[in-house]
Amino acid sequence: MFTKKSTAEQVTNDVDLTGKTIVMTGVNSGLGYEAMRVLASRGAHVIGLARTLGKATEASNGVVGTITPLACELSDLNSVRHCADQICAMDIPIDIVICNAGIMALPELTLKDGLELQFLTNHMGHFLLVYLLQEKLKKSVEGRIVMLSSMGHQMTVKGGINFDNLDGSQSYQGWKFYGQSKLANLLTAKAFDDRLKDLGVRANAVHPGVINTNLTRSLDGVLGVFFKLPFTGLLMDRVFGKTIPQGASTQCYVATNPSLKDVGGKYFSDNKEGKTSYYGSNKELADKLWDYSVEYLKRYIEK
Ligand SMILES: NC(=O)c1ccc[n+]([C@@H]2O[C@H](COP(=O)([O-])OP(=O)(O)OC[C@H]3O[C@@H](n4cnc5c(N)ncnc54)[C@H](OP(=O)(O)O)[C@@H]3O)[C@@H](O)[C@H]2O)c1
Repeated sequence: MFTKKSTAEQVTNDVDLTGKTIVMTGVNSGLGYEAMRVLASRGAHVIGLARTLGKATEASNGVVGTITPLACELSDLNSVRHCADQICAMDIPIDIVICNAGIMALPELTLKDGLELQFLTNHMGHFLLVYLLQEKLKKSVEGRIVMLSSMGHQMTVKGGINFDNLDGSQSYQGWKFYGQSKLANLLTAKAFDDRLKDLGVRANAVHPGVINTNLTRSLDGVLGVFFKLPFTGLLMDRVFGKTIPQGASTQCYVATNPSLKDVGGKYFSDNKEGKTSYYGSNKELADKLWDYSVEYLKRYIEK
């Protein structure tokens, strides 16, 4: 029904989100900003998260609808915990959580809290946020979790997730570690779906397409040069990739389309179910990642 070129506005055209509350990360840029704009225009109350309150507030000022801006620095787990506490203190159920924020292909290994920064930001920060919002999601009539993954999950390291090298100390390649973090997003959707589906909460993962956004800011080499050229935006929008309104569509579709209310554990691309990799459909790996993450995050979960 919808295609690769459908926009976020088109896929939500018949959807009334009045009374729904949506938590979304990374709302100040790219796909997250467009998704926030469209979901709010359909009547949702969007709790819009960005690294700082200033960024979240500035983004929400440009949007018509009900937005509550909050700070959530995903690579600072105390910030994630504080943000989740603020949301839990609100006397409302949470209907949808969209884990949209991300960083890509950092050329140099960056370590924080003993983890490589893409894994910490893209996976651990989001895992903690969703974990802490589980009870709120269970109170929704129809809870949904949407994890922004990427077809880049296929470029992951040997073994899918290398639990012995999550600090990159044995070897580091920016794209492979991005792939590993995006595989973790995909497996996290499966793991939450397995654990919450009987409680009325479904979780899916999304590849949004290839879109010219600020995500390319860290790229170096030929790709880095390409994305800085003045005509690249036009080329990406018209020829190779999608525009931002088109790129934001699959996450909006998966988050809101009524036909998907009983669908979970899947991977979507171009507004339809897509194929994942061997590792992307590996339940054992998803369970191992769950156990590792819960153990790593213990002190933030039990606080
Ligand atoms: N664009 C594509 O072609 C593409 C393809 C596949 C998957 N994706 C996925 O789509 C999602 C959205 O990406 P985008 O293309 O819209 O990129 P973007 O324009 O760069 O937006 C990324 C967002 O994530 C936020 N973010 C980054 N690090 C953060 C942190 N530590 N804590 C909190 N927020 C943080 C950014 O905030 P700041 O602005 O403050 O840094 C920004 O709001 C990402 O998960 C990405 O992996 C995108």
